[in-house]
Order: sequence, then structure tokens, then C-alpha cells
Amino acid sequence: MTALAKATALRRRKGGRPISALTAYDYPTARLLDEAAVDVLLVGDSLGMVVLGFPDTTHVTLGHMLHHVAAVARAKPQALIVGDLPIHSYDTPAAALETARQFVAAGAEAVKLEGGLEQADQVRAITAAGIPVIGHLGMLPQRVLEEGGYHKTGKSPAQAEAILAGAQALVAAGVCAIVLESVVPETARAVTAAVAVPTIGIGCGDGTCDGEVAVVTDLIGSFPWFVPPFARPEADVAAMIREAAVKYVARVAAGRG
Ligand code: KIV
Repeated sequence: MTALAKATALRRRKGGRPISALTAYDYPTARLLDEAAVDVLLVGDSLGMVVLGFPDTTHVTLGHMLHHVAAVARAKPQALIVGDLPIHSYDTPAAALETARQFVAAGAEAVKLEGGLEQADQVRAITAAGIPVIGHLGMLPQRVLEEGGYHKTGKSPAQAEAILAGAQALVAAGVCAIVLESVVPETARAVTAAVAVPTIGIGCGDGTCDGEVAVVTDLIGSFPWFVPPFARPEADVAAMIREAAVKYVARVAAGRG
């Protein structure tokens, strides 16, 4: 399936079978998640925290992202490969388009960017070039320094209206889906009901969006040092790695390789 066909199929899932999305940053993880029939593989800029060891996503560069998008693309997944545009790589429509083109050259089939009304021209520039775009509203990790931390949003009427206006602007500009992050359930539900494209929630409560996205390390328990309160791990890979390494060290100490 072409990138555009995959993005169109994603958009048509509005109100239908819930969309499953997971982050992936490398070839083996992308292959394994694709075998599980996940719909979307997001090469998120969460990469900066859970793979590269930075304190937040503001340290992530275009070079980092392209390197990892290419690794995920080598897995040739059935899932839609979405690349997250890093901070300051889409400050103007021309910059956004140039960055999106580099993502596509690296193997991305769609790109994601953070923000609402102020990103409408950027989204228009990218979609006009035939590259699908996913929006991202609510808590915006690239603004964590200005916001002073990761906070729930959409609580007050003003916040809820801003998210809704942002969502409508993104839809008018041509996004095929919108990620809602850490938006209170009532607002996530209202935005989902109001917009024509699927919403994909993280930290917004059960059944409030058209799908869910999770950071893969939160799902498999491989990054135990920062686990968001809404994470629901299905495995404890950190414990397995520690145990295997302890057994290996003991084996070597006993003279066995
Ligand atoms: O970078 C990321 O992993 C994301 C998800 C939290 C949606 O943007």
C-alpha cells in the first residue's frame, strides 16, 4: 500500500475500529510490533528521552530523527510509519516542507508535528506536497520548558476551546489524524466528537478517542526511570535484562562464556 493509501485508510477509521499506535525507534522493535498488527509505528521524538538519554525532547535533532526513521523503515512494516518533526525543524511553512521531505527520503510515510492554529500553514505546505500529516494537541512535550513540566490540559473552558479551535484548524489544513496528549477525558471526548478525523489519545482516559498511542518502552517496561502515571506496562523488560546480565556476569566469573 502507498503512504497516501495507508493515511487515507487511517482517516477512514474515524468512529470505527479503534486505532492502535506505538512508538518504535529501531529495526527489531519495528518488526516485532508490526508482527502484532499495530496500525501505526510512530518514530516519536520521545526517542530523545527513552533511547538517547536526554532529559526531554527539546534536545532531539533532525539528524537523530532521520537516523531512527531509516532504521524503522528498513523493517518494511505494513503499519503506517510516522516520523515526529523535532523542535525548531518546522518553524515556517518552507522549513516544515523541507524537513518533511527529508523524513520521506529517510522512509517516513507521514509526519507528525505539535501545535494547533499556529501550525495550520505548516500543515498546508506539507499536505500540498502529498505528504500526510498527523497533528498533536493537548500537552506538547516540545514546550515542556515553557510549561514548567508535564501537566494535564483541557481542564478550563478556555483550554478546552483552544484545543478544539486548534483541532479544527488542523483538520481544515488537511491532517489525517490528531494525537491528543494528557487532555482531560471530557475535553478529549468533546474534541473527538467534533472533528472529522480520528483522534489518537495518550493519557486522555479510556474510550475518549478513536485510538490510543503508547510509548513502547512504557508498554514493555524497558525504561523504568520515568514512567508516566497513565502507563500500563504489559511486560517488565528492565527486570529481564538485569536478570540476564547478572546471570552472564556470574557465568563468566565461573569460567564459562
Ligand atoms: O514522541 C512521542 O512518543 C509522542 C507520543 C507521546 C505521542 O509524540
